[in-house]
Amino acid sequence: MGVSVEFEGRDIISIKDFSREEINYILNIAKTMDPLAKRGSEMLKGKILATLFFEPSTRTRLSFETAMQKLGGSTIGFAEAEIASIKKGENLADTVRTVENYADVIVVRHPLEGAARLAAEFAKIPIINGGSGAEEHPTQALLDLYTIMKEKGKINGLKIALVGDLRYGRTVHSLAYAFSLFNIELYLVSPESLKMRKEVLQTIKEKITVTEKTSLEEIIPIIDVLYVTRIQKERFPDPAEYAKVKGSYKIDLTTLKEAKKDLIVLHPLPRVDEIAAEVDNTPYARYFQQVWNGIVVRMALLALILGAVK
Ligand code: NCD
Repeated sequence: MGVSVEFEGRDIISIKDFSREEINYILNIAKTMDPLAKRGSEMLKGKILATLFFEPSTRTRLSFETAMQKLGGSTIGFAEAEIASIKKGENLADTVRTVENYADVIVVRHPLEGAARLAAEFAKIPIINGGSGAEEHPTQALLDLYTIMKEKGKINGLKIALVGDLRYGRTVHSLAYAFSLFNIELYLVSPESLKMRKEVLQTIKEKITVTEKTSLEEIIPIIDVLYVTRIQKERFPDPAEYAKVKGSYKIDLTTLKEAKKDLIVLHPLPRVDEIAAEVDNTPYARYFQQVWNGIVVRMALLALILGAVK
């Protein structure tokens, strides 16, 4: 490809650690994983992935486990920190220094920002951030980019809206950083109290055109991608604040009336009530395709990090 990329042994902590060339490289490798995801492979035979999930998850953990198994590897881990030694007071650094004896790569999801970075400082094996508090979720951003590329044939030149909880939603933080490496126009739609975090906004504004809005109405007719997020109830310090913004956006067929015919609607899932079920069977809905794409992107990441693909 003419670009020098080196992934073997690397951590995946923040999407900011990756250049546009590296991201494109990962997306290209992911494309080659699609047929392997269907028929299986022995590429990572004998390798072990550990998943340390200190927060609830359905997709991220199962998708990493599926990706590893499709490549012939195996998985260990816990999804319930309550039953692990954490309950006895073990700290993350000790957990990581223990688990690295059992595995070749570790995925960590943790409620605290900076947790994945801390784990990487202690671990001798690669650490993948499966969600660090409200901060980042880099592998979700990669699968979101992959989905856009696959569905629209490009990323550059698109008008994209991120909608919902831009303050506590970690997927939109990683995704916004990633978008800022491309040539897109970004619309940020949220209630006043859930606006995009300042540090993210400042960084991306230096690179791309960003417009903040509280309503979707004006932009629906012009956008190519509508990325909807759940209001992150569990991260609100005050339940009264959550009550004020609960149900702020509900995408239904009426919302989409003025949309471009080829608009795509994405969502990292889980959804609560921000996308009505009636949207699911329209050509706009691509959120369940994202789930499949998550497997192939994570296959690519595991194969690259473990040196099975150069
Ligand atoms: C997201 C997360 O955990 O940040 N889910 C996911 O990983 N696909 C989004 C969310 O919980 O709303």
